[in-house]
Amino acid sequence: MSSKIKKADLDWKNLPFDYHKTDYNIRFHHKDGRWSGGELVESEHINLHMAAPAIHYGQQAFEGLKAFETQDGRIVCFRPDENGKRLQRSSERIYIPVFPVETFTDAVRTVIKANAKYVPPYGTGASMYLRPVVFGTGPRVGLGPASEYLLIIFGTPVGPYYKGGFTPVKALVVEDYDRAAPQGVGDCKVGGNYAAGLGGGQYGKNLGFPVVLYLDPREKKYIDEFSTSNFIAVKGNTYITPRSESILPSITNDSLAVIAADMGMKVEKRQVEISELADFDEVGAVGTAAVITPVNQIKFRDREYTFGKGDAAGEVITKLYKRLTGIQTGDDADKFGWLHEIAV
Ligand code: COI
Repeated sequence: MSSKIKKADLDWKNLPFDYHKTDYNIRFHHKDGRWSGGELVESEHINLHMAAPAIHYGQQAFEGLKAFETQDGRIVCFRPDENGKRLQRSSERIYIPVFPVETFTDAVRTVIKANAKYVPPYGTGASMYLRPVVFGTGPRVGLGPASEYLLIIFGTPVGPYYKGGFTPVKALVVEDYDRAAPQGVGDCKVGGNYAAGLGGGQYGKNLGFPVVLYLDPREKKYIDEFSTSNFIAVKGNTYITPRSESILPSITNDSLAVIAADMGMKVEKRQVEISELADFDEVGAVGTAAVITPVNQIKFRDREYTFGKGDAAGEVITKLYKRLTGIQTGDDADKFGWLHEIAV
């Protein structure tokens, strides 16, 4: 069965990971201690006070999640409740009033449904990326939380984050840049972490590395995460991922660890020394946008470590990728109950 929706006329198989206009976004305002009901709007723009703390002091948090079309024409969203919970944790840390998880998942549904013609057709490898963002709008010049807030969720059809999709990329360990501080906000999804990563990212790109890897900012001894995504490694039958106070708790990483355990792998979430790079068989960059991007080379100081099968991903990362994307697109049974079906 194919989808009942007449899709937009897009080159679905060649979509970049970028903004593409859709029809509606949803907005909630927080004023006088309460969140308003959601309003679906067509405008892509916001009328923002120039003294909004979001643009001066970075009081903002955001999320990223995806919706897919399944082979039988259903539209599903992957673990939106977890994004709702993570947004609450980020918000609490930077004094943004928390948004109820149930309202968040309902709003995600509303946006997907209103823009259903932009959910890429099954089999194209593309998806609809949802971007919720919440920020302080009430004017204020002294440092402190804003008096008013706006939460927006928009959706945009996207292709793979890294060119070539499931094709290995090479990474550079940057030691002269940190993306987060110990006891800072590295474990929250806030824009400042990504702004802090722009310098290191550009430094890597200038040297021909599409992705950079950060070390823990306290000792520079342990692996933290990539600029865009979490770090995972495979060593024999073990799935290894860093435990750190300054990295984002990735929902994709959490899902992959569950899948790995289900595949009979041992899962280790622990401090991972950079010196262990030599021991790993396969490495991946994992996140909503990156899905699992295989990493076939990491340059650390004057050494290059290689992983997987050269130009192709290793077997385990390939299996993990297939299991995750199989669940997301409904090809495999949703045995962990991760899919939220959107009635359109
Ligand atoms: C995501 O994976 O959802 C992110 O927000 C990462 C961003 C660099 C696109």
